[in-house]
Amino acid sequence: TLSPIDTAKFVAAKRAVEFVEDGMKLGLGTGSTAFWMVRLLGEMVRNDGLKIVGVPTSTRTAELARQEGIKVISLDEAKWLDLTIDGADEFDAELNLIKGGGGALLQEKIVATASDQMIVISDVSKQVDTLGAFPLPVEVIPFGWQTTKALIEETLVSMDVLGQRTTLRMNGATPYVTDEGNHIIDLHVQRIGNARQLALILNQIPGVVENGLFIDICDVVVIGHGDGRVETHD
Ligand code: A5P
Repeated sequence: TLSPIDTAKFVAAKRAVEFVEDGMKLGLGTGSTAFWMVRLLGEMVRNDGLKIVGVPTSTRTAELARQEGIKVISLDEAKWLDLTIDGADEFDAELNLIKGGGGALLQEKIVATASDQMIVISDVSKQVDTLGAFPLPVEVIPFGWQTTKALIEETLVSMDVLGQRTTLRMNGATPYVTDEGNHIIDLHVQRIGNARQLALILNQIPGVVENGLFIDICDVVVIGHGDGRVETHD
């Protein structure tokens, strides 16, 4: 039996895989919710003969998908995807997201943007009025990261963002390294008044590769509850 939080994640994933059809090219998200989605797709491939190919958004998901018997191809082989299913760290009423708590935001954003449709699977705890309570991940190249971090802080000040504290994500005693060989700076801002503008301005800073704000990318959020109920927002 699953805990309420895992039940919520599972039922959201279960509803989302109902959108998957034979022949689809799928983007496979990363994280503990996307884990259930990949497991369920694996069952459908093995037991129901579902024919799909998957483009994973991380080495972790690639490994899991292969274990599950899902055919894994690169985004360049797929060129374009029918559907991406992924988790999120926060979503608002406009279906804008914060992602990257698991560190895979760069590949996730590239894959979701290259898809006709993106479905986010989430438990209800990630629904917010305003994005920003979850620290916003920003992927930066290692070269000059301290300078980049300082420039990010200046940008937050110039935008009158409430909190301006930023932290380099660590993996024990050393900086966390993404699948693309970069670092992540987490922005502890509490509240992002203008997410669209912040997303654009952050990406203007040299050294910033991408940020975890997903604006106008997600089409549907499937929300799972601990008692097994599921809601769909689109
Ligand atoms: C990975 O980089 C993230 O964007 C995840 O999609 C996000 O952190 C959600 O993960 P969980 O489903 O584990 O909460």
